[in-house]
Formats: sequence, C-alpha cells, structure tokens
Amino acid sequence: TAIAVLRDLIEDAERIVPFTGAGISTESGIPDFRSPGGLWTKNRPIPFEDYVASVEARREAWRRRFNIEATFAGARPTRGHLALASLYKMGKAAAVVTQNIDNLHQASGIAAQDVIELHGNTTYAVCLDCARRYELGPIRETFEASEEPPDCDCGGIIKTATVSFGQAMPDQPMRRAQELAAHCDLFLSVGSSLVVWPAAGIPLMAKRNGARLVIINRDPTELDDVADLVVRNDIGDVLAPFIGH
Ligand code: OAD
Repeated sequence: TAIAVLRDLIEDAERIVPFTGAGISTESGIPDFRSPGGLWTKNRPIPFEDYVASVEARREAWRRRFNIEATFAGARPTRGHLALASLYKMGKAAAVVTQNIDNLHQASGIAAQDVIELHGNTTYAVCLDCARRYELGPIRETFEASEEPPDCDCGGIIKTATVSFGQAMPDQPMRRAQELAAHCDLFLSVGSSLVVWPAAGIPLMAKRNGARLVIINRDPTELDDVADLVVRNDIGDVLAPFIGH
C-alpha cells in the first residue's frame, strides 16, 4: 500500500524536507483556502496593493483577522505537525518549509529558526516602513474601539506579518527553502494544493535535484504527475504512525 511505501521512503531517507500547506492545520479547526468551506471560497483575498492604497481595505483585513482570532488562538498542533516534529527531533529533517502563517510548527516543538515561513506569520504584525514589530492584542483593542486601522509611530502602515498576493516574498526564507530543496533526498509535500507560486516551485526544484517527491493531500494537486508517490488520504491518519519515532 501507499502507506507502506511511504514508511520505507522515510526510513531510507537521511535528509527530508517537509513542506506544508493549510491542509496540515485543518484538523486543528483552522480552515484551508480552496477546499469546500475554505477561506477563498467565502472571501476574495485582499491584494497587497489594495491594502496599501485603501483605508477601507485595511479595515476589512483587520475585521477578518480579528473575526478568526479565536480559531487561531485556540488551535493546537495536529497529528501531522507532531509527526513532522518527530522527524525533526530524530534528525531526519533539519527544518520545515511552510506556506502556513499559524505558528503551529513552532508550537509542535520545532525551533523557530528551523521553521521556514514562506508566507510569513499572522500571530503578530509589522510596520511596512520601519519593520517594527507589534503584538495583536493592543491593536485589536484600539481597532475594535475605533474601527481605525493602526498606523506606526513612524507614519507607516501596520500589517500582519503575512505575505499577501502582490507582496514580495521574504528573501531569506526563499533562499533557505531553495537550499534545502537542493540538498534533500526526500521532499514531503503535506496539505497543499501546490497552485501558488513561487512556493510551488520548491518541490519541483527538489525533484529536479534528484530527491524523491511525495505528496500527501486529500485532493489532487498541480504536481501529482511529477511525484514519485501520491497519498490521497487524511494527513493525520497517514502521519500518526510517525509520531514519537
Ligand atoms: P489550499 O487550500 O490551496 O490547499 C489545501 C489542501 O489541503 C487542499 O487541496 C485539501 O484537499 C487538503 N487538505 C485539507 N485538509 C486535509 C486533511 N485533513 N488531510 C488531507 N488533505 C487535506 O492551501 P495551500 O496549498 O496551503 O497564500 O494554499 C497555498 C497558499 O494560497 C497559501 O499559503 C495562501 C493561499 O492564498 C497566500 O495567501 C499568499
């Protein structure tokens, strides 16, 4: 079966790169983007240029963010997160590359510097001009009292530390992800539809560099055709046997 093949691939591998998308977090109650009920099935994403240009767009972005705060704040690492943390702790995976912004890999016991966040992090905010960091609690209090999106003391616009469509990818994480993809022997894509670029280019790079490519995802993905193994089952069920090994 696919699970037995996966077990052998993981046992034989020495340098695994787990690469995750929203599907690894759904078991914690956080919705993904493109499945039925996913965030982009309910709301259009707010492009970066709109966020910067329009106070109404910023107001809408903060409303959405605080509406979902209880979901993020209450979320705990899933079986998928715990299994990947086990691969990390046993030294088979040096880091995890993620498109997720929910901080759950860190919460599962992976050191922050080894969680490579391609799309940033939604648990704090930054000034787009001076890069000063802001915690969300005080921003929420002010926003809910005034409905005014926050600005930095420097005059810059404050935004959650996430990457929106049209916003530049963070340099360092992209470079680190490419490096990991260039030197791994097994690349595990977990819970991503692999439709968003340039992130979806990372698994392709690993494959081109000779790594085995495994895709674990309930629905078909853009890269199933080039994968060595596709496992179309529930992530928690597939990865639970790897917890604590
Ligand atoms: P998607 O919503 O596109 O894909 C998540 C995938 O996870 C879907 O194909 C589901 O089938 C699968 N899935 C969900 N729960 C699962 C489960 N329990 N077991 C197995 N499979 C499951 O999310 P991403 O690929 O992460 O970026 O989306 C990529 C990027 O698009 C995000 O980082 C975000 C979004 O727009 C930006 O906003 C820049």
